[in-house]
Amino acid sequence: MKLLSPVKVGAFTLRNRVVMASMARARSDINRAPTDMVAQYYAQRAGAGLIVTEASSISIMSQSRPHASAIFADNHVDGFAKVAARVHAAGGIIFQQIYHLGRKADPTRMPGGAPVLAPSAIAANGTINGANGPCPFGLPRAIETDEIPGIVEEFRKAAMNVKRAGMDGVEVHGASCYLIDQFLRSGTNQRTDRYGGSAQNRARFMLEVVDAVVSVMGKDCVGIKLAPHAMGDGIFDANPVETFGTAAEELGKRGIAYITLVEGPGERHRPDDKVPALMPVFRRAFGGALIVNGGYGLETAEDVIASGKADLVSFAIPFISNPDLVERFRLGTPLQPGDEATFHSGGAKGYIDYPTLAEAR
Ligand SMILES: Cc1cc2nc3c(=O)[nH]c(=O)nc-3n(C[C@H](O)[C@H](O)[C@H](O)COP(=O)(O)O)c2cc1C
Repeated sequence: MKLLSPVKVGAFTLRNRVVMASMARARSDINRAPTDMVAQYYAQRAGAGLIVTEASSISIMSQSRPHASAIFADNHVDGFAKVAARVHAAGGIIFQQIYHLGRKADPTRMPGGAPVLAPSAIAANGTINGANGPCPFGLPRAIETDEIPGIVEEFRKAAMNVKRAGMDGVEVHGASCYLIDQFLRSGTNQRTDRYGGSAQNRARFMLEVVDAVVSVMGKDCVGIKLAPHAMGDGIFDANPVETFGTAAEELGKRGIAYITLVEGPGERHRPDDKVPALMPVFRRAFGGALIVNGGYGLETAEDVIASGKADLVSFAIPFISNPDLVERFRLGTPLQPGDEATFHSGGAKGYIDYPTLAEAR
């Protein structure tokens, strides 16, 4: 099985091509620091070739749901240091995902009632679970041009914190309609300064963030996740091939370790008339490892790697209820179903209590 063969990604030789995708599970403490239970959860999944942690906010302006993690303060570093240590003790390799929510931050939890931030003053469609129940996403304040270096600096400091925590690398979260994605796509970026307009200009913020993170970690220890098919909150792009082709090419010039491209057989991750297949575009434009994600199972993952279209596959939901996913793939054992009610519920149930095959026996 090629999926289970080793592969070089940046500075690392991974034992297999099965990546645990980033998943926010809302199990940090109320001050957003991972607890011992979080460290145990990741250690249970150390059989993955690479683990990517849950998204961690880089700024107080990136307010997410309670118990979601952050990486801008010392308590966050202490919490993630426990995670890194437990995963390393179990033989795993772990990158930390860092992000800024931009217009998708929780408007009811913003410091001093400040508006959420975005490239342009365009609100996300839909609602968010705010402090007093569901509420619409806030109307953002467009970030001033001279504020951008400060936000890039927050990413750099977050990378310093990731390094202090002893993580192996950083995954920059450029997906899921968050701040970097909002800058990239023409529907959410209507700026007239050097961060808006052409695909090159819209990629500038992402590239400044990547350069800042590389300055801390080294290019071999940096990856990024992009999701051109995500359109959940009304985000869109007029020319996805040009936008994401430019992004992939510029990332290639920087020589970072990998891109995770969310494109796969899953319902919300498939190419369609609005956004065509971008895997070949990424393959041509980016020389580093290509990880694909989005509804893959053993067979589809094996196929995409055997075809040479991608190098690794990342799995999110299958890892929730199958801590020993790699072993199950190796043996061809059916996967255990997960309980969606516990994805973000807090507590040990549905988090650290899914048995491995050995434990089930
Ligand atoms: C509970 C849950 C939390 C998620 N949190 C994140 C996150 O923090 N960062 C991220 O990039 N993607 C996040 N995702 C998306 C997954 O990483 C992945 O892209 C998506 O689930 C598709 O992969 P899959 O079909 O293997 O589950 C999350 C998904 C789930 C189910």
